[in-house]
Amino acid sequence: MSGTTQDDYTDRYARRVRGMTTSEIRALFSVASRPEVVSLAGGSPYIAALPLDAVGEMLGKLASESGTTSLQYGIGQGTVELRERICEVMSLSGIHGASPDDVVVTVGGQQALDLIARLFLDPGDVVLAEGPTYVGALGVFQAAQAQVRHVAIDADGLIPAALSAAIEASGRRAKFLYLIPTYQNPAGVTLSDARRDEILDICERAGLLVVEDDPYGMLSFEGDAPLPLRARRRDGVFYVSTFSKTFAPGLRVGWILAPHAVREKLVMASEAAILCPSAFAQGAVTQYLTTMPWREQIKVYREIYRERRDALLGALHDLMPAGTSWTHPAGGLFVWTTLPDGLDSKAMMPRAIAARVAYVPGTGFYADGTGTANMRLNFSFAEPARLREGVRRLAGVMEQELAMRAVFGSTVAGSGGPHRRRGPAAADAPGPDLA
Ligand SMILES: Cc1ncc(COP(=O)(O)O)c(C=O)c1O
Repeated sequence: MSGTTQDDYTDRYARRVRGMTTSEIRALFSVASRPEVVSLAGGSPYIAALPLDAVGEMLGKLASESGTTSLQYGIGQGTVELRERICEVMSLSGIHGASPDDVVVTVGGQQALDLIARLFLDPGDVVLAEGPTYVGALGVFQAAQAQVRHVAIDADGLIPAALSAAIEASGRRAKFLYLIPTYQNPAGVTLSDARRDEILDICERAGLLVVEDDPYGMLSFEGDAPLPLRARRRDGVFYVSTFSKTFAPGLRVGWILAPHAVREKLVMASEAAILCPSAFAQGAVTQYLTTMPWREQIKVYREIYRERRDALLGALHDLMPAGTSWTHPAGGLFVWTTLPDGLDSKAMMPRAIAARVAYVPGTGFYADGTGTANMRLNFSFAEPARLREGVRRLAGVMEQELAMRAVFGSTVAGSGGPHRRRGPAAADAPGPDLA
């Protein structure tokens, strides 16, 4: 019946659907997009920085001059032209000599993760992932009925000793390590150069595959990013990336560079899901990379985001209450904040929305309910003055919570203060525009 929220189909859902529940946090995110709210919650690139007229002209030509192919079905692996361009893009990041034959074009990085999960995960398998990790990857692993075991990170990224311990604890059920080594979402940290080979060695010794997710590597603010893991080792490493952050997420074009033996299975899995990636979107990216100054555009994005990161970090430094700490990203889109003792980012969210500021509570980035002491702040979308205003509002909310806590104790300020909720938290996941 239209208009009713009652779900009469609950008995009929497949088992994997059980974890897909909605939450009050999701409802709050719909409010976060209102103009009066300063949203630090999003994950959206600043598309207004693109030369939109020129892109429009390019898209028009793509239809009028080559519509018979760009509006037609294509092949499952993606066009050769785009796969060749993708190999050129990867060589800029230090991945040289990749063959277009080993590249599979996907519907964004998100489908790349989904395909890898379809190929390798049985229900009950374990995926090791940074804690915190990308919310969209948690959704994929949950849909595959896998268990995510988080591995601790610090300012230098994944901690090798913690990885070894997690491998030991997971035994043979661990299928792969999923990680975002560079300008991580949500933590903003980067796996140090020194740790990269160590992590690869640990995985190789344990026979663990590595899924390297690298949407942000080109968005550096302070010199080049360390070499990707895939540039150091081919065997056992799946490299996933996307044009969402360097060009435009609306086109939904990403890719996997896979070990050769696996490539065909990835294509079959993709064909089963989508037949083929959009020929028009692939044509658009190919044209963009062939005829437009895309390297310059990445520099434009970098400059804008560097200025905004500085504005956000400056505002946090000037305005946040004592006891708050945060990461200092050298690239990417996000800062990860740790709240003063006893504050709960999820419980505080309705009060933040009432104060017209939004963020993503840390619980969205863990599969096990941790993260109540954290929040993710985005700096790519709002302009510097608005970022500062957002932090001013947020700091005001936190000061109030701390004052209430001082007067009434922990039960008022948070959802139980020290009683951190445990259990599946994927329902806290924000919607796609907030990824
Ligand atoms: C770490 C990470 N992986 C994958 C994606 C998915 O990107 P896409 O838009 O290409 O599907 C995102 C998007 O935010 C991301 O942050």
